[in-house]
Amino acid sequence: MKFSKDIRYIGVNDHEIDLFEGQYIVPNGMAYNSYVIIDEKVAVMDTVDERFSAEWLKNLEKELAGRKPDYLVVQHMEPDHSGSVAEFMKIYPDTKVVASTMAFVMMKNFFGTNFEGRQLIAKEGASLDLGNHKLNFVEAPMVHWPEVIMTYEETEKVLFSADAFGKFGALDTEEEWACEARRYYIGIVGKYGVQVQAVLKKAAALDIQTICPLHGPILTENLGYYLDLYNTWSSYGVESEGVVIAYTSVYGNTKKAVLKLAEELEKKGQKVAVNDLARCDMAEAVEDAFRYGKIVLATTTYNADVFPFMKEFINHLTERNFQNKTVAFIENGSWAPTATRVMKTMLEKCANLKYTEAGVKIMSAVSSENEKQIEALADELCK
Ligand code: FEO
Repeated sequence: MKFSKDIRYIGVNDHEIDLFEGQYIVPNGMAYNSYVIIDEKVAVMDTVDERFSAEWLKNLEKELAGRKPDYLVVQHMEPDHSGSVAEFMKIYPDTKVVASTMAFVMMKNFFGTNFEGRQLIAKEGASLDLGNHKLNFVEAPMVHWPEVIMTYEETEKVLFSADAFGKFGALDTEEEWACEARRYYIGIVGKYGVQVQAVLKKAAALDIQTICPLHGPILTENLGYYLDLYNTWSSYGVESEGVVIAYTSVYGNTKKAVLKLAEELEKKGQKVAVNDLARCDMAEAVEDAFRYGKIVLATTTYNADVFPFMKEFINHLTERNFQNKTVAFIENGSWAPTATRVMKTMLEKCANLKYTEAGVKIMSAVSSENEKQIEALADELCK
């Protein structure tokens, strides 16, 4: 696949993977993108997961048409991209590696060597001339690891964006970009909004016509759409109006209250996303929590704590710097309900959360008093 005469795609699709990064389901697989720039000097942009080394090296060889790469630019050391670096360096012993100082430290840790004598350090603002193309390096720490650099090629105005603007899903499957890009972003980079904002500021100063991420499709049109979404996500803004309800239910009573609340909210014209935390993809529920501006947490008291799936869910939120939301609680406890208190304590360190005055306290089954509380909560959430 070529997207320009001189910049060629040499990545691979992975349909064998069960869990990306050991935790995310990827029903449509995963793409590990890599590119080669053919000019007076030849630069390879990142490698792929080592399970696909042979396929990737074949793709590269075909595009090289007998030439040898001068540079391997390693933007990110996570093994889904660096897994073929050591093999590549054996096959092409004259190639230099271009990476951040921290990436070379990681190479020593991963491969037992940092390729001394073959290093070119890519600092912020440094550039590399390939002939007609010129690579400019942009440090992007914590998007998604500390060693990350992005690369701006100024002639064709291409931003090689590392993990940013990537998504789950292989490139030989059709699916909407935003859904799997959001689940990917919130899951993987969600905690590092401040760092993403810093990189977006740097990107705003560049004339970008194409974004080449390390996952997902090459973005060539309507780039403002993708940049706007990244701005919303990284500033923890509200992407979609509506209410997300995340719940657990042991015998169906909490669920009954949740469904009643959803019905009341929908009657009032609210969009509602309901997630049963014991059965849904946890990453989808986490994505929804960051997407909408209002969230209802509904769960049972359990071992004087909250039900395990809710505990896991709230941990996912707090470790990703959950903030700027309206939060409501529904709790259920047959003899000593403590779930609301526990959940509120778990959320204590989150910035700028607004709690509703209305809440629901179920003592075993949904009572007529609970129905009134649900109506009051629906009213408050629609204000
Ligand atoms: Fe796609 Fe952070 O590696």
